[in-house]
Amino acid sequence: MKIFDVYPLYKVTPVSARGITITDDQGIEYLDFYGGHAVISIGHSHPTYVKRLKSQLDKMGFYSNSVANPLQASLAAKLTKMAQCEQYQLFLCNSGAEANENALKLASFHTGKSRVIAFHNSFHGRTSAAVAVTDNPKINAPLNSQHQVTFLDFDDQESLKTELSKGDVCAVILEAIQGVGGLDQPSPSFYHFLADCCKKYNVMLIADEVQSGFGRSGKFFAFQHYKVEPDIISMAKGMGNGFPVGGILIHEKIKASFGILGTTFGGNHLACTAVLAVLEVMESENLIANAAALESYFREEAARISQVKRVKGRGLMLGLEFDFKVASLREKLIYDYHIFTGGAKDKFVLRILPSLGVTQDELYKFFVALKAALS
Ligand SMILES: Cc1ncc(COP(=O)(O)O)c(C=O)c1O
Repeated sequence: MKIFDVYPLYKVTPVSARGITITDDQGIEYLDFYGGHAVISIGHSHPTYVKRLKSQLDKMGFYSNSVANPLQASLAAKLTKMAQCEQYQLFLCNSGAEANENALKLASFHTGKSRVIAFHNSFHGRTSAAVAVTDNPKINAPLNSQHQVTFLDFDDQESLKTELSKGDVCAVILEAIQGVGGLDQPSPSFYHFLADCCKKYNVMLIADEVQSGFGRSGKFFAFQHYKVEPDIISMAKGMGNGFPVGGILIHEKIKASFGILGTTFGGNHLACTAVLAVLEVMESENLIANAAALESYFREEAARISQVKRVKGRGLMLGLEFDFKVASLREKLIYDYHIFTGGAKDKFVLRILPSLGVTQDELYKFFVALKAALS
């Protein structure tokens, strides 16, 4: 049987990984400044994470949501403390798209409305409503296009107000730092205006923190740089350090009732253990502070490279903008310098998404390789 061919592949076959180092089947070592697309938050095969998962697997890997799972309550308590989200409830699922799908569905249930406002260059996933609010017609099938979605520009206050005042909008969904799109951010004044308008018109504000959450931006969630209070927060990627897990934090004003959301696998014992281990390591190794601190070092080093036109993003969710398309630079970095980096919908942006445990020395190695590759 052939693999359904939807991914263009680099010719590298990783077989083991530790920290930010990946080793391929030829024994070649690579530095991972891509984190498997912002997924590796505490480092590959972190010993605490591996130990916790192995011991949970020895006890029990899975049971469905038809019985009590105290690990979910432990996770909710730990998240409340670390993310400083006291007024939220937790629902667990399996991926970023599923988190957004549930967030949108809940917004529609809660308000009784169905149109969604999203933003140009957004990426929210590939399932039904999640892909409909993603600004990319190429990945929207006719089935997805039946959702009612209006795309606006960040910072266009007038259009936002006009659309929300029509009274049929259930949610505004946004990334505080656009990931796939290329690291653009709304201005603080726009985000505050947006939050106020959502309150005024009874529209749910959904913060998509699938990529920017779990410390990547230098705060637990990227919206916390703006001091707004979303109604629903979606998360995934860094949450499980590679274990497939997602979730939403739901403001306490939105009430649960049996059956409105559900999943077979979501919140299972292994998934909760993975997230608890991630949070424990983040806390004990001060990884969020590390992400915040290394941003300045990254910006200083990048400023010394004349070909870099702009540094985008925050914390360790960063991008370097060039005045040429970066595809061949990425290939050169992988094949000649053994460094993984990320691309974006904006072809001029090279994305840097390492584990939050990356060190200054490792970032220095990235810049040495980048300068050599550019020369
Ligand atoms: C901001 C954002 N939301 C949602 C998703 C979808 O997540 P998943 O691929 O886990 O479905 C992504 C994936 O890149 C993302 O970056």
